[in-house]
Amino acid sequence: MKINQFGNKGWTPDRIGHLNGQTYVITGTTSGTGFEAAKILLAKGAKVVMLNRNPKKSEDTITVLKQELGNNIDVSSIQMDLAEQTSVKKAAEKVLKTVPNINALICNAAIAQVPKQILTVDGFESQLGVNHYGNFLLQALLYPRIEESKGRIVTVGSMGYNLGIKTIQFDDMNWDKNYNANDVYSQSKLAQIMCVYELQDRLKEVGKTDVKVYACHPGASRTSLIKTSGGLMTRFIWQLMKLSPFVQSAEKGSYPQLMCATEPNLDQNEFYGPTGRGYWTGPVGACKLEPHAKDKAVAQRLWKLSEKTIGFEWNL
Ligand SMILES: NC(=O)c1ccc[n+]([C@@H]2O[C@H](COP(=O)([O-])OP(=O)(O)OC[C@H]3O[C@@H](n4cnc5c(N)ncnc54)[C@H](OP(=O)(O)O)[C@@H]3O)[C@@H](O)[C@H]2O)c1
Repeated sequence: MKINQFGNKGWTPDRIGHLNGQTYVITGTTSGTGFEAAKILLAKGAKVVMLNRNPKKSEDTITVLKQELGNNIDVSSIQMDLAEQTSVKKAAEKVLKTVPNINALICNAAIAQVPKQILTVDGFESQLGVNHYGNFLLQALLYPRIEESKGRIVTVGSMGYNLGIKTIQFDDMNWDKNYNANDVYSQSKLAQIMCVYELQDRLKEVGKTDVKVYACHPGASRTSLIKTSGGLMTRFIWQLMKLSPFVQSAEKGSYPQLMCATEPNLDQNEFYGPTGRGYWTGPVGACKLEPHAKDKAVAQRLWKLSEKTIGFEWNL
């Protein structure tokens, strides 16, 4: 096991100083780790712009945050459904118009374990469409503002990257032939993580070292993830697992993304999350990343395919 650079307790938000004057754009804050991350950032004085698909839930989230932290917090929301490329484009346009500075874009929102193949309005298998293509487009569109701000891009992945087929099924990206809820989720999270390290390489190639890009995962956290999109049996099993000590609070699950968004001098090559058994819970630090997540040939092919699929090229 690696030695944790943050000591036995690992990284905690105590390490964050005041964040007055800093802006964090974060997806999926209506529940789970995104909500907790937004709350901690706001409590530290940051401005938080939330990108959520459901405006009513966004409003309720703001109400709860104000009840807990006071009316003076600087929080706002922009509607964005990652399952619709047009919605991502509209939201990004609004962010570019209204948010002059982005210290970090935290791509936290996702769906998981969708039991049957569903296609998004753009014709993408839903888990790949939301988790990978949605976030990939958002990052590409907001990149110019992040570059101006010398900011960061944080992708919330999953240890699921190490399950399933452990590569990208290029000959059937929509899983028409062999749809399986878990394999497809795993591939979508692998795709997200691979693009983090591919983006790092691409930035290095063009000499742009001011933008930092990080991959992390929340371990196993008590959130709404499976309840929102999983099938009946998976929901039942996960409900039971959530009662066990092998699953941690959503707040602890938010620490890795907060660390990646705020900790100075963090090594981009690592993959951050809870470092305990199976990487489910435990002190937050660098976790082992299996080599298939950094397979260069697959990553380059995935990047090109993703740009072609969304019809938009990163302007690096
Ligand atoms: N919980 C875990 O144990 C675990 C394990 C590994 C990885 N993760 C990762 O952790 C991240 C956070 O998930 P969570 O566990 O906190 O789950 P969660 O409680 O379900 O939160 C997910 C958030 O994403 C939003 N979202 C879902 N689909 C969206 C879409 N199409 N457009 C915009 N927003 C959308 C949800 O909004 P709604 O409220 O509208 O549904 C919600 O705000 C995800 O990337 C997930 O893959 C979680």
